[in-house]
Amino acid sequence: MPRAVFDYTDGAAGIDESSLRRARAAFARVEFQPRVLCDVRNVDTSTTILGERVGLPLMFGPTGFTRMMNHEGEPAVARVAERLDVPFGLSTLGTTSPEDLAAAVPGVRRWFQLYLMTDRGYAGELVERAQSSGYDTIILTVDTPVAGRRHRDVRNGLSIPPRLTARTLLDMASYPRWWFNLLTTEPLEFATLSSTEGTVADLIGRVFDPAITMDDLDWLRSVWPGRLVVKGIQTVADAERVHRHGADAVILSTHGGRQLERAPLPFEVLPRVREALGDDTDIFLDGGILSGADVVAALCQGATAVAIGRAYLYGLMAGGERGVQRVADLLREEITTTMQLLGRTSIDQLGADCIRMRD
Ligand SMILES: Cc1cc2nc3c(=O)[nH]c(=O)nc-3n(C[C@H](O)[C@H](O)[C@H](O)COP(=O)(O)O)c2cc1C
Repeated sequence: MPRAVFDYTDGAAGIDESSLRRARAAFARVEFQPRVLCDVRNVDTSTTILGERVGLPLMFGPTGFTRMMNHEGEPAVARVAERLDVPFGLSTLGTTSPEDLAAAVPGVRRWFQLYLMTDRGYAGELVERAQSSGYDTIILTVDTPVAGRRHRDVRNGLSIPPRLTARTLLDMASYPRWWFNLLTTEPLEFATLSSTEGTVADLIGRVFDPAITMDDLDWLRSVWPGRLVVKGIQTVADAERVHRHGADAVILSTHGGRQLERAPLPFEVLPRVREALGDDTDIFLDGGILSGADVVAALCQGATAVAIGRAYLYGLMAGGERGVQRVADLLREEITTTMQLLGRTSIDQLGADCIRMRD
């Protein structure tokens, strides 16, 4: 990959990328408490997400500009999600439109991730388009009133779409296949937005609305009849607030550490949110999940399921759809093996008694 593209995916906010580093470190502190001498021949990794049975306790989180990582883009990821029987989240900053994705992979469970832009009329249009092309859940992302300070992107001069400057031409020599694919497939641009000049931070600054409030959530709740998930919740108080305002579920998330530096750790906040919202509300978690053992740990800590971001993007960058499938296979195998070695054979057996945190 050209460095700027890899860094856009891999990077996070702040000089030391503290929110992402800490999220990963939290998983490293987990110590499983296995039970031995249990018959673990048959493991059932399926579970229920928002009332529907899914094959694994995870979903593909929404990520913007996916075709920049690999020209196969969102449809490649969605096809893998369909095979795994898990939901796929399409971003407002996607490089495939809601309609095209639905046409390309009609069988995948589709969630649409919405950013509320200054132009609420346009947001309303997006909601309608999502509904009429079969998306049954909206994820409202609320941790992005302004852009996080992502130093790697600034340093690399990443622009969207990548521009052909003297530096990129030099870069091309090192990554001919990536550039060839970029330049010979349909133009790389946001599928639902027209203003694509400048850096990611510039774009967020132009398009997103720092004035968004709880009233906007009420508005969305009133126009969207489907399931509504609020993403980017970081405290117990906010989880309770959005739940009171009609959210069916929350995603505890710091946007993969790409927004606020030194943010709360979703993994640590999770048990308190579970206590506050009770067992009947779905609570998802993301950030730093790179292995099946991480997924199992999050479930033991109280999550209904997890979302993955970079884990599948790394696969996509490495090998397109085949790479994403490889990541999915690894995750499924790791989840199964971890459960077997823990002495647990179904997702509902994963609870606080299965882990303890090392100091
Ligand atoms: C390259 C990239 C782009 C992202 N774009 C979006 C987006 O458009 N909308 C959104 O709600 N979250 C976005 N996210 C955040 C992810 O949905 C998710 O919260 C995060 O990736 C989870 O952390 P992980 O990458 O460590 O799994 C993005 C994350 C990455 C890495």
